[in-house]
Amino acid sequence: MEPLWQRESFWRKAAVFVTAGMAVVLLLLTFDSMAKSAVGKGRVPSFAVINQEIDYRFDAGRNMRVPVVAGEQPLFGKRLSEAEAEAMVSHGKKTVQAKNCMDCHTLLGNGAYYAPDLTKAWLDPQWEGMQTLTATDSREAALAAFLEHPSHYPTQERSMPELKITAEEARAVVAFLKWMSAIDTNGFPANFDPHAEEK
Ligand code: HEC
Repeated sequence: MEPLWQRESFWRKAAVFVTAGMAVVLLLLTFDSMAKSAVGKGRVPSFAVINQEIDYRFDAGRNMRVPVVAGEQPLFGKRLSEAEAEAMVSHGKKTVQAKNCMDCHTLLGNGAYYAPDLTKAWLDPQWEGMQTLTATDSREAALAAFLEHPSHYPTQERSMPELKITAEEARAVVAFLKWMSAIDTNGFPANFDPHAEEK
């Protein structure tokens, strides 16, 4: 009689078991990822986080920078309900898709490498300085002014083209960028530190 490992029937059964077993594992991992990446749970904040101040600080325990959501800081000075915030963030996300920002930028690491990753763009200290240049009095207004007319603010190494974004779209994109900056991305992008100049 042939040893077990030489029988075809054994290998056929082994293939069936491994495939079925891995299908179950894949299903469990899918549900696990969905739970962790759902809005308002785990690593992804609820949309109303745009009403709050978002910081990005080094966490010694995790050995990486993590978003820190602190006090009140309503976007454009207006506190929004979760539904209103969702509508605004979603409008911003659709604008980002319609204007193909990913042709040049990456978002959460997806996209092109011509211009910087936008995951933490909201936290870039340059928006503080840009307030003078854009004649605005808040970080969100400076960022919106830049998005509406990037060619007016040649502060960057290379210039971003005019994308014909309306004022309302620009404000929605700002909401989307602010919300995205509060996502715990496990330290991605690793080279981004909004407090680099303070050290
Ligand atoms: C044709 C390429 C291109 C497209 C499309 C594009 N950008 Fe840019 N963007 C740039 C370049 C170039 C810069 C300046 C980068 C530099 O300093 O080298 C820039 C800079 C920026 C910055 C400043 C980055 C920072 O953190 O300081 C933001 C924010 C930004 N873009 C957002 C957007 C958004 C939102 C869209 C879509 C609505 C978009 N960009 C579409 C090329 C592009």
